[in-house]
Amino acid sequence: MFATMTSPFVYEEPVKAEALADRGDELRLLVDRALDARNSRIEGARRYGKTSLLRAVLSAAGKDGAIPIEVGFLGCVTAADVAERIERAYGAQLDSRLRRWYEGLVRTLNPTISAAPGGVGVTARPGISAPGLLDRLALPRRLYERTGRLCVIAFDEFQEVVRIDAALPGVFRSELEGHGEAAAYVFSGSHPGLMQELFSDRRHAFFAQAAPVNLGPLPPDELADYLVERFSSGKRDPGEALGPLLDTAEGHPQRAMLLAHHVYERLEAGETADFEIWMDAFGAARREALAEIHVLWESGTSLERRALKVIAQRNLALGSREADRRYGLSKGGSAQAAVDRLFRDGHLIEDRGTRTGWRIADPFLAYWLREM
Ligand SMILES: Nc1ncnc2c1ncn2[C@@H]1O[C@H](COP(=O)(O)OP(=O)(O)O)[C@@H](O)[C@H]1O
Ligand SMILES: [Mg+2]
Repeated sequence: MFATMTSPFVYEEPVKAEALADRGDELRLLVDRALDARNSRIEGARRYGKTSLLRAVLSAAGKDGAIPIEVGFLGCVTAADVAERIERAYGAQLDSRLRRWYEGLVRTLNPTISAAPGGVGVTARPGISAPGLLDRLALPRRLYERTGRLCVIAFDEFQEVVRIDAALPGVFRSELEGHGEAAAYVFSGSHPGLMQELFSDRRHAFFAQAAPVNLGPLPPDELADYLVERFSSGKRDPGEALGPLLDTAEGHPQRAMLLAHHVYERLEAGETADFEIWMDAFGAARREALAEIHVLWESGTSLERRALKVIAQRNLALGSREADRRYGLSKGGSAQAAVDRLFRDGHLIEDRGTRTGWRIADPFLAYWLREM
């Protein structure tokens, strides 16, 4: 048999509540609000730990007597998909006693797919008035009637709901705003632009009242403690790799874990990393991220690519002569529009330390751009 020496660093899926670095303040705030039946939303760049934090909130709320339910909407393209996703989440996550009751209840609900609108050439928005969806959104009220317990519901990747139809958030609001003591919602999503639009729109007072909790980069001191503790639990020492790892990751949680994993893998119990091990691990981590960087690059417009190149340099200003000369990004509205789009899509975070005022959220993409 092979000896298993799996590293303690998770970088391919959300981390368990007990393995979260930092985020203690955010967690307490979100749990307090949820147990108080108030709604919140988590903002943050891709892979900054939104889903991990949502799960930690649910697990804490569950220990406090609430009924936790997580619904991720990624991949939903119709209101019927959304309704089904919610139905399945309850089916999979309710404890066994409630699940038996739920199995019966679910059969009394309107079907998730409503009958097609009649008539030739009718192009009604499919399922926006879906009674099947409303029934599933109302489940916390049914649970409250039955148990008197609060549901804490995480709606993750909520931008998908916004994308399906501009009217769909209104359907959610019409049901959810009546939930009072029955439910607290925590929303999150990986498209900052769509999320911000929805949650700051005055016409959607319900969403605007969900207090934002912003996830920034992990602070280097917290991250260092976290990494060192995990290395030493495995009888390893990050040694000369620790400093460059912290600098390279720039507080990006997933990149930090990816790098730590590759350093750890190169050590036997009792060993300490040297600079050579760091360079080797860094190379391997970058190779692992390359395919995804290529996909992202392919998906950008030529203006977005130019803007990314300028921002990656850090010491060039948007609209500067040098930015135009080197990267063909001339002054004007279109460059600004490209930057706005990149921000809305979650590729940029604000950074006062650079000439553009932005930095690229993924430090690996920034390295790649500086080398190309
Ligand atoms: N607080 C944290 N502590 C440790 N690792 C984290 C933390 N936040 C995020 N990560 C890392 O980032 C990866 C992505 O986390 P995830 O919760 O899926 O982010 P998001 O939902 O924002 O895309 C995880 O696999 C984990 O490696
Ligand atoms: Mg996520």
